[in-house]
Amino acid sequence: MKIEALPVVQEEYQLKDYDATARDFQWEEAEKTFTWYETGKVNMAYEAIDRHAKSDKKDKVALYYQDADRKESYTFGDMKTWTDKAANVYKEHSNLAKGDRLFIFMPRSPELYFALLGAVKMGTIVGPLFEAFMEGAVYDRLLDSEAKAIVTTPDLLGRIPLDRLPDLETVFLVGDNIKEDDKFIDFNKALKNASDAFEIEWVDKEDGLILHYTSGSTGKPKGILHVHYAMVQQYQSMKWVMDIRDDDIYWCTADPGWVTGTSYGIFGPWLAGTTSLILGGRFSPDAWYKAIEEYKITVWYSAPTAFRMLMGAGDGIVKKYDLTSLRHVLSVGEPLNPEVIKWGMQVFNKRIHDTWWMTETGAQMICNYGCLPIKPGSMGKPLPGVKAAIIDNNGVEVPPFTMGNLAIKKGWPSMMRQVWKNQEKFESYFINDEWYFSGDSAYMDDDGYFWFQGRVDDVIMTSGERVGPFEVESKLLEHPAILEAGVIGKPDPVRGEIIKAFVALNEGYEPSDELIEEIQQFVKKGLAAHAAPREIEFKDKLPKTRSGKIMRRVLKAWELQLPTGDLSTMED
Ligand code: WT7
Repeated sequence: MKIEALPVVQEEYQLKDYDATARDFQWEEAEKTFTWYETGKVNMAYEAIDRHAKSDKKDKVALYYQDADRKESYTFGDMKTWTDKAANVYKEHSNLAKGDRLFIFMPRSPELYFALLGAVKMGTIVGPLFEAFMEGAVYDRLLDSEAKAIVTTPDLLGRIPLDRLPDLETVFLVGDNIKEDDKFIDFNKALKNASDAFEIEWVDKEDGLILHYTSGSTGKPKGILHVHYAMVQQYQSMKWVMDIRDDDIYWCTADPGWVTGTSYGIFGPWLAGTTSLILGGRFSPDAWYKAIEEYKITVWYSAPTAFRMLMGAGDGIVKKYDLTSLRHVLSVGEPLNPEVIKWGMQVFNKRIHDTWWMTETGAQMICNYGCLPIKPGSMGKPLPGVKAAIIDNNGVEVPPFTMGNLAIKKGWPSMMRQVWKNQEKFESYFINDEWYFSGDSAYMDDDGYFWFQGRVDDVIMTSGERVGPFEVESKLLEHPAILEAGVIGKPDPVRGEIIKAFVALNEGYEPSDELIEEIQQFVKKGLAAHAAPREIEFKDKLPKTRSGKIMRRVLKAWELQLPTGDLSTMED
C-alpha cells in the first residue's frame, strides 16, 4: 500500500543538532557519564541521586511536589537522605534481600519516591502499582511476582488479599495512627527514626531493577523486567529527545504505576540531574496550566489524551495562564494527531514532539528528537544506536511505504530482560533471534520516518492506558449474568479508543440499563476503573472459532461496519 506523507514542517526552534555526530552512535559513549564506568559498581539510585548529592548539584532542587494538601521541595542532598532512610527502614523491619520484590501501591507523594528509590538502594526489584487497581488486579501481580513486601496506604489495604498471598511478609503503611505488629510497619514513623547513613548495595548492571506489569491480547498481565543498565538509554534520551539542559524545570505527567512515570518520571530526569515537578491529584485543566505557570516548566512530557482533554477545555482557559516558559513539549502513548500538533502551535507556540516506545522497550525508541523537522502524524525516527525496521511475518524487511510489523533489532540498552517466570512469552517477542516484534503495525517513508498504523493484536489503548481484552473478558465472565464476553477497542475522538464489551447472558437474565450499570461497576471494583467497558452491547451469541475462542476481529468488524473477512474458522 502506498501512503502519501504529509509535507515536512521545519521546526522553527532548532534544538541542538545531535544528529550529525550521533549517526554511528556507540552506547559506550553514554556509559562514560556514570560512576560505574570507572568503578564497576552499579546502582541506579546511586547514579540518579547520590552521584548528584556528592556534586555541586547537592543543593539543586530534584523534586518539587504539589497536590491539594502539600507543597514541598527536596534537593538532591535531601533525596539522598530520605532514600537512605527508606533503605534502612527496609533493612530494619523486613527480610528483604537483593533480588526480592517489593511493591509500591499508593497515590503520588514524596514518600512514594523515597520508598521506590530506597528499595533500589537495597538491590530490591520494585514493582509499582497504579493506585486505581482493585483487588483482582493487585492480587494477580503480587502473586505472580511472589512479592515479599509492599508499601501502601491504609485506604488501599483493603484491596490486598493478604490471606491469599503467602509470600507477602511485610506491609509498610504510609498514613496516620498506624497500628503496628510484626507484619504491619508505620512507614513514616520508621522513616523518621531511621539512620540516614546507608551502605548502598552494589549490583551487576544486568541485575533486576523494576517490574512493570502490562497487558497483551492473551493471558494474564505479564511482568516486564528491566535492569539497572537501562539507565544508559534513559539518560541519553533525556538529552537527545527531551533536550534537557541544566536549568530546565521538567514535568512528566505520568504516574509511576506506568513505565513512563518511572523511566521518565524518576530515572531519566534524575540521572540527568534535572529539577522535576511531580503533581499529585487528578487531571484538571486549571491545575495543569497553573502548574506550568507557577513552576515555569520548560520541558513538558505528556500524552495525546491529556492534550485532547486540554484542547476540549477550550482556549479561553489557556489565556488565564502564562505558559511562555515552555521550551519543549513532548508526547507518548498513542498516535499524536496532527490536529493536536496544530493546537499546540496555537496555544503554546510549540510543536509537540511525538515519541514512540513501550513498556517492553524501557526507554524511547522512535522519536521526533532534537533537531528533526517534524512531520505531523509521524512518530519520528529511531534513536541513534537503535535500529528499527518494518518487517513481514517472516522477519524480512519490506520497502518504504509498505505496511508491516514495526520491529527493533534486538539488543538496545533498555530492552526488557525477562517476562517474569515466563521464558516462553519472552521468546515469543523475537523473530529469528534478531528482531523484537512490537505488536504495532506501521510503515516507513523514504526519509526514514515511521508512521504508526495500529496494533496487529487486540491490545486496547484507552486514554493512553494499555488494557488486555482477555483480562476484561475474564472479569466479565465472573459476573453471574454473563455467559460469554468479547471485548474490543472502539475508536474514540478523545480517548483514542474506548472499551466496548459484547456479552451474551445466562438463562434467566434480561438486557437492561440497570444490568449494564451493574456490570460496569463490577469490572470497576474488580479490576480498575479504566478497564471497565464504557459500552456494553447484548448479543444472543458471540462469534467463536470452532475451538471456542471469541473472534474479536468479527466483533470489531460489526462495530465499524466493515467486512468481516475470512470466517472459515468460525463455528456454525
Ligand atoms: C503501546 C505501548 C511507553 C509509553 C506508554 C505506553 C502505543 C506508544 C505511541 C506513539 C502511537 C503509541 C503503541 C505501543 N504507543 N507510543 N507515539 N504513537 N502509538 O506504553 O502501555 O507499553 O503501550 O502504546 O501501540 O505498542 P505501553
